[in-house]
Amino acid sequence: MPASARRPIIAANWKLHKTVAEAQQFVTDFLRLCPDTDTVEVVLAPPFTALAPLGERLRATALSLAAQDVFWIDEGAYTGEVSAPLLADVGCTYVIVGHSERRQYFGETDEAVGKKVEAVLRAGLRPIVCVGESLAQRQAGQTFAVVAQQVERGLAACTAASAAQVVIAYEPVWAIGTGVTATPAQAQEVHRHIRTLLARRWGEAVAEAVRIQYGGSVKPDNIAALMAEADIDGALVGGASLDAASFAAIVRRGGKGS
Ligand code: PGA
Repeated sequence: MPASARRPIIAANWKLHKTVAEAQQFVTDFLRLCPDTDTVEVVLAPPFTALAPLGERLRATALSLAAQDVFWIDEGAYTGEVSAPLLADVGCTYVIVGHSERRQYFGETDEAVGKKVEAVLRAGLRPIVCVGESLAQRQAGQTFAVVAQQVERGLAACTAASAAQVVIAYEPVWAIGTGVTATPAQAQEVHRHIRTLLARRWGEAVAEAVRIQYGGSVKPDNIAALMAEADIDGALVGGASLDAASFAAIVRRGGKGS
């Protein structure tokens, strides 16, 4: 499968931002600016509170809905948790799993990420599995090893069929919210490394099918150069996704060869 057969996927990770009204307004503004998103799959990841209303709203559009986290058990006495079947029920297609902020502030381990990935796939949803090294790890030359471990443990339970459903987001921690983007070449070498790992474990066809997003200070003025790299199949966008005009500009420039 040629690289171009992978449909680019650009996701807005709103983190802890936007009321329901603000989320609805964003959708109105974004669709006006970007009514046709055929070449790129667009995903919105609002806070939990906006998932159900946006799920209703997005049903008549080409936009997909993602949750920012999930618990790995489907139901039971787990106060405060939200499971994958409940996310499917309100219209989610994707779930972000293992974001570095969850690893850093909430103690999420690779093992927890693996259980969440399994739960998401079991519910018929698709995980966006986040991996990436810290600045200290990069400076110590550990980038490839750190990312390899995160991919292997995060996808530990995957078969070839379920691995093909996964989206991976390579997000170097030092580039998130800092304004410092990895250069296209820095990102590409890690994306290539991830694809090689996927091929070794699940075969060439799976490796060629899996989309690998880059994340970390993606903006309208750097998306095209990132997307020009062979193994960069999209972006996970934080800060620059909060404004509809900025996110629309990223989507418009986020196609392959655009
Ligand atoms: P940023 O965040 O675009 O604000 O750097 C990216 C992310 O955390 O997914």
